[in-house]
Amino acid sequence: MNSIEELEETFGAPAFKKFPLTIVRGKGSVVWDDTGKEYLDFMTGIGVALVGHANDSVVRAITEQAAKLITCHGSFYNDARAGFMEKLVAVAPKGLGKVLLANSGTESVEAAIKLAKRHTARKKIVSMKGAFHGKTYGSLSATWNKKYRDPFGPLLEGFEFAEYGDPQSLTQLVDEDTAAVLAEPIQGESGIIVPPPDYFRQVREICDKKGALLILDEIQTGLGRTGKMWASQHWGVVPDIMTVSKGLGGGIPVGAAVATDEVAKSLKGGEHTSTFAGNPLSCAAGSATLDYITKNDLPGKAKEKGEKMKASLSKIASSHKLVKEVRGLGLMLAMQTRVDIHNQLLSALKAGVVFAYSGRDTFRFLPALVIEESQISKGLEVLERVIGEEEASRF
Ligand SMILES: Cc1ncc(COP(=O)(O)O)c(C=O)c1O
Repeated sequence: MNSIEELEETFGAPAFKKFPLTIVRGKGSVVWDDTGKEYLDFMTGIGVALVGHANDSVVRAITEQAAKLITCHGSFYNDARAGFMEKLVAVAPKGLGKVLLANSGTESVEAAIKLAKRHTARKKIVSMKGAFHGKTYGSLSATWNKKYRDPFGPLLEGFEFAEYGDPQSLTQLVDEDTAAVLAEPIQGESGIIVPPPDYFRQVREICDKKGALLILDEIQTGLGRTGKMWASQHWGVVPDIMTVSKGLGGGIPVGAAVATDEVAKSLKGGEHTSTFAGNPLSCAAGSATLDYITKNDLPGKAKEKGEKMKASLSKIASSHKLVKEVRGLGLMLAMQTRVDIHNQLLSALKAGVVFAYSGRDTFRFLPALVIEESQISKGLEVLERVIGEEEASRF
């Protein structure tokens, strides 16, 4: 343990399970540790460094904004905030014209839940088995994994779970007291689960039939990650409320619930605010990030590179019996194995590659959308090597 690790262990509450790596610098798809060793980053803070670490446009925007104005409460107007919301609406699915800003993913989900309840005056939220929406009480109540829920009960009332990908199961749960159905277009945390192609069209119909809103949580799937700006666009479905965060600020904390005018106007001034929401620094970062994504067609790049990367992963899978399945869309990919991958993650780190996991047995790949093909190839060489080593030790 180095001195930085010791300090964190001494003074930080043990909230995170840590990897033995101290990251002190990043650029694009590369991060460096405190000894100067270089790592290829396929985790990107779980999808946050979507435009790459220390993206020049983001760095310029926050530097200029920091010198001008860092904080401005939402009860005043601000140029950085106004511009950012305009840009977000411009890229949002058609009909979603109002932005409620937040500081994280979980807060964006809280905002969406409150908007839905306020608009419909109904009490129930139906989310999905396997869902992950965050760890504050509202979003935790809509999160499936017992490991996150059980130590913190009682959670909020009125939350139910449908079988993901099964419209029948949803039909049985959605009724006249359902404020909203809340779902990830592709489930991230539970292993990059892509639903059947017609599923979300059916979900939309079920919601419409019962007068329930549809909230799509695009926190992990959004901003081009899956090969389209929003994953919902793969299926031509428009939600009533969409949540966005992770890559939205180029690494700076920011999130948003984006809603139809109709839904948003149910909210009265003062009912849902927070001190930092709409912070000028985050908004400047958000504007620079959105500009970068659109100017460089990152959704198109994610599609192209993602297809190649998925093909390479499938090739690895076909020659290693340790691998069970390869899944995903764009640059949101997963490789499920038959074993706990912790040791493989550590071996990859030693070889200079950072991979994320989804559950114990699945590699999750959320590289920056600016990653170079040569970097993908290098990362996958290491992946194949660590899988091969693990296989040799077991079979
Ligand atoms: C789909 C989804 N929703 C919500 C969240 C929560 O975001 P945060 O960790 O910023 O609170 C995450 C985080 O991984 C997520 O993937």
